[in-house]
Amino acid sequence: MNFVITFSFVFILFNTLQALEIGQPDVNLRNTPVIKTGNLPQFVALTFDDAVNNELWEHLYKDLFTDLTDPYTRCDLKATFFVSHNNTDYAKVNALHNDGHEIALHSFSHGGDQQDSEELVRNFRMGRWMLEISQNVKNMVEHGFLPKDTNFGWRAPFLFTAGDESFSALNRSNIMYDSSLSFYEKSWPYRLANVDKTQSCLIKPCPSRPDYLFYEAPLSVWQGIDGHVCAMMDACSYGSTEEEVFQTLMANFQSFQSEGVPFPISLHGGALNNGRIPHFRQAFEAFLQTLLAMRDVHFVTMRQLVEFVHSPMNSVQYMRMARRTCSIFRPKKPCSARRPACEFKSRNGENSVYLNTCAQRCPSQRSEIRFNYYGQSCCGV
Ligand SMILES: *[C@@H]1O[C@H](CO)[C@@H](O)[C@H](O)[C@H]1NC(C)=O
Ligand SMILES: *[C@@H]1O[C@H](CO)[C@@H](O)[C@H](O)[C@H]1NC(C)=O
Repeated sequence: MNFVITFSFVFILFNTLQALEIGQPDVNLRNTPVIKTGNLPQFVALTFDDAVNNELWEHLYKDLFTDLTDPYTRCDLKATFFVSHNNTDYAKVNALHNDGHEIALHSFSHGGDQQDSEELVRNFRMGRWMLEISQNVKNMVEHGFLPKDTNFGWRAPFLFTAGDESFSALNRSNIMYDSSLSFYEKSWPYRLANVDKTQSCLIKPCPSRPDYLFYEAPLSVWQGIDGHVCAMMDACSYGSTEEEVFQTLMANFQSFQSEGVPFPISLHGGALNNGRIPHFRQAFEAFLQTLLAMRDVHFVTMRQLVEFVHSPMNSVQYMRMARRTCSIFRPKKPCSARRPACEFKSRNGENSVYLNTCAQRCPSQRSEIRFNYYGQSCCGV
């Protein structure tokens, strides 16, 4: 009895402090963290969605980050990868993680690769969302050797939510933050308890309950050269010359910078590797270099951005902290030296999928096929 009372008292106090720390909800839609003195840093969060496969590794992720260092903090640029399971090479996930990038979740099946997979995802109920999350986590741990106690972030496939149906599944799965909701307004991450803000999310249905425990790291939309907006920046239009692409990227950065709000760069690796935007890769790399050279501009992972909102500090304090922490050596677990090639056949034996795992043994065909790769809607939930 005594324990219960003390516990809830401490809990309430803790919640109140947190609320004060990050500013009361509804003060403004940007949810700007409150600091006593100085300026907030200008953050940039670079995120990639979908499978981390061997092709993207070889042609993009392996080299993209070489020479991308913030001269003011001496921290190397780290990105966030929202990784879905099918076709993911877990040895590469492990390598990205060991390099200090953030590995986050993007569902197990991504709805499959059928024509109607968007429609399928839209109709997932809570049980299916729970399974998509738990299988995604399980594979990161078993096949990518990520620590069991990782606080994962999440982005929904196609940025679809099922409103409270999927957000309840996230809440139950101990997700640290969601990064699926897009908005016209530019905004800092915020606690989902700020329902007023959440209700203006662009892809409906928006979650509406006030008692979610985790954060939203929103996707504020970008604007293409033709004036159309996009939540994933690689869906915008950028013109046809390298100069136009670069200028459009810069114009978007400046519109976030002028409002003092973190700048999300959210795309698919494929867009930088034979994507549809001409000259995108060259312009994009020049763009990253330009941002890195700016004094008050710092790249963070989504998790770091959420942590910052939780305990904000001014730009000077941030630079000091970053310099100290980005060089800390954290031992991580590499893949097993000898790893099997795992092949799974479809029921009719006609197709195979391959799993590249860090583990020494392949999972059983049964456990893999239970959540099937072959496009049918599965699992009976
Ligand atoms: C998984 O990937 C394989 C190979 O690309 C493809 O044939 C299969 O349909 C995919 N399955 C799902 C559920 O996306
Ligand atoms: C989220 O989880 C907490 C703790 O388990 C619970 O109190 C709360 O009601 C949940 N919220 C929703 C909307 O499920």
